[in-house]
Amino acid sequence: MSRLIPPSVSKIMVRNQFLTLLSAFLLLILFTKASPQEQPIPFVPSPMPVVDRMLELAEVKRDDVVYDLGSGDGRIVIQAAKKYGAKGVGIDLDPKLVELAQAKALEEGVSHLVEFHAGDALTVDISGATVVTLYMFRWFNNQMRPKLQRLKPGTRIVAHDFDVEGWPPTKVEYLPENLAGPDDFGQPRTLYLWKIEGRPSPP
Ligand SMILES: C[S@@+](CC[C@H](N)C(=O)[O-])C[C@H]1O[C@@H](n2cnc3c(N)ncnc32)[C@H](O)[C@@H]1O
Repeated sequence: MSRLIPPSVSKIMVRNQFLTLLSAFLLLILFTKASPQEQPIPFVPSPMPVVDRMLELAEVKRDDVVYDLGSGDGRIVIQAAKKYGAKGVGIDLDPKLVELAQAKALEEGVSHLVEFHAGDALTVDISGATVVTLYMFRWFNNQMRPKLQRLKPGTRIVAHDFDVEGWPPTKVEYLPENLAGPDDFGQPRTLYLWKIEGRPSPP
């Protein structure tokens, strides 16, 4: 059969096949890069009344280790240390925010309880957490899901405004828009809580 096709035509066919494959590959890259599911997550701090409610919902105690994934200026772990004496770890992609969080922790007198690291929170070891807080887009929460579900029994996870696809929360709480008082022109918030099932191991 191939002997019936002149060499010039066969060359064109190979070239066309190559071009088709190349454009399919480029389209795949373009789609993956441009996917709104993986939009970069900017620094937008949780208002302090929301932070307080997240920590209450997680029932943070002195013996907890609170991990905030995408810790921004460090307010969640710093508040957990100040209010409850809990240890904390904050991870943020932005080294400048990590420096800011470290300076704030020093200022607030809790630098012996908390630590902040620059890096991609998707790749860090969070197995030491007993509480995880998230104010991250859903695509991030979805990618974290397998790691979150492997955390120790008794671990609580609280997410601000963005849930985890296909993982029904233990509790959902709606916060009113004027949470910080009549001067707060904020928007209503939703908090999601998950509890990792099983009997917590003794400290
Ligand atoms: C919406 S802010 C939340 C800040 C803080 N957790 C709070 O609730 O106030 C999200 C933060 O996540 C950081 N971030 C985005 N992608 C990240 C990633 N893959 N790993 C670690 N931090 C990330 C951003 O730099 C930003 O500071």
